[in-house]
Amino acid sequence: MKIAITGAGGLVGSCLTNQMAADHQLLPLKHADLDITNKDAVFAFAQREQPDAIINCAVLNVDECETDRPKAYAINVAGPQFLAEAANEIGAAIVHYSTNYVFDGKEEKIYTIHDEAHPVNNYGQTKLDGEKAVTDACSRHFVIRSSWVFGVGKPNFLSIIHRNLKAGKRSKVVSDCWASATYVEDLVARTREILERQQAGIYQVVNDGICSYVEFTLEAGRLVGLSEPEIYDLIELISDAEIKRPATRPRYTPMRCLLSEEIGLPSLRHWKDALAEYISKTSNE
Ligand SMILES: NC(=O)c1ccc[n+]([C@@H]2O[C@H](COP(=O)([O-])OP(=O)(O)OC[C@H]3O[C@@H](n4cnc5c(N)ncnc54)[C@H](OP(=O)(O)O)[C@@H]3O)[C@@H](O)[C@H]2O)c1
Repeated sequence: MKIAITGAGGLVGSCLTNQMAADHQLLPLKHADLDITNKDAVFAFAQREQPDAIINCAVLNVDECETDRPKAYAINVAGPQFLAEAANEIGAAIVHYSTNYVFDGKEEKIYTIHDEAHPVNNYGQTKLDGEKAVTDACSRHFVIRSSWVFGVGKPNFLSIIHRNLKAGKRSKVVSDCWASATYVEDLVARTREILERQQAGIYQVVNDGICSYVEFTLEAGRLVGLSEPEIYDLIELISDAEIKRPATRPRYTPMRCLLSEEIGLPSLRHWKDALAEYISKTSNE
C-alpha cells in the first residue's frame, strides 16, 4: 500500500515509519512537511499523492491543550477532520490515534468502547471530538485509542525512568494514577494488523495488565538491577494534584479492546514483558 503518515516525527509516527518501510510505500510527513491544520495543503497532498491510507499521528500534548485551546482544537479536531475528508474524497482509509483520556477514570474498572466517554481535561475533550470528526467524515476509519505509550522516540516519563534510576537520578513519581501501558512497537504492530483486517471502528490498543506509575517504576528499576529499597531511595511519591500541571489526569483508565476480540486479534503481551524487551533493546544507549 501507499501510506501517508502525518506527525511522522513523533513517538508513534517514527515507529510506524521504521516498522512499515520494508512492506509499504511510505510517505512519512513531519510537521514541517505537512501541517494538518492547513486544509488546502492537506487536500492538495491527498489529490497529488493518492495514498491508499493516511495514518495520523499529529497531536498537541496534554498540558498545552489546556493552555492553548484554539491550537488544541486546530491540531486535535480540525486537522484530523481535514485528513479524514481528504481520505474519503480519494477512497482512502484513515487511521487516527486517540487516548484513554477520553474517560474520566472515576470508576475502578476496565474501560471498553461501550463506556461513556467523559474527559476531565481539554486534551481528552479534543481527542474525543477528533474521533467523532474522523468517523463522521470517512467511512473507512480506524480510530485507535492507546494509553501511556513508551518506547524510542520521545523522552516521556515511561520511556526514560529506567535510565534515570540506573544513573542514580532522583525522580518524582505520581502515585495516584492507574492505566494500561503500551509499548510503541506493539501498538504499531497491532495497527498494521488492524489495517489489514479492514474492519472500521474504534479500537483500544494497549498492552495487557494494569499499572500505576509506581508499579511501572518498580518494574523498570528491577529490570536494570536495582532492589526495591534502592528504587524507593531514588523516588519521591507525589499525587497528580501536587505536581501542579495545567491539565488534571484521569485517575483510573485501563482499557480493553472489544473490537480486536470480535475480529479474532489476541490481547497484546503483558506490559512487563514489553518493558523488558524495550529495556534490553536499548540497554547500550
Ligand atoms: N504518547 C502517549 O502516551 C499516547 C497515549 C495515548 C494516545 N496517544 C496518541 O498517539 C498519537 C501519537 O502520539 P505521540 O505520542 O506519537 O505524539 P508526539 O510524539 O508528541 O508526536 C506528535 C507529532 O505531531 C507533530 N505535529 C504537531 N502539530 C502538527 C501539525 N499541525 N501538523 C503536523 N504535525 C504536527 C509534532 O511535531 P512538532 O513537535 O514538530 O510540532 C510531533 O512530531 C496521538 O494521537 C496521541 O493522542 C499517545
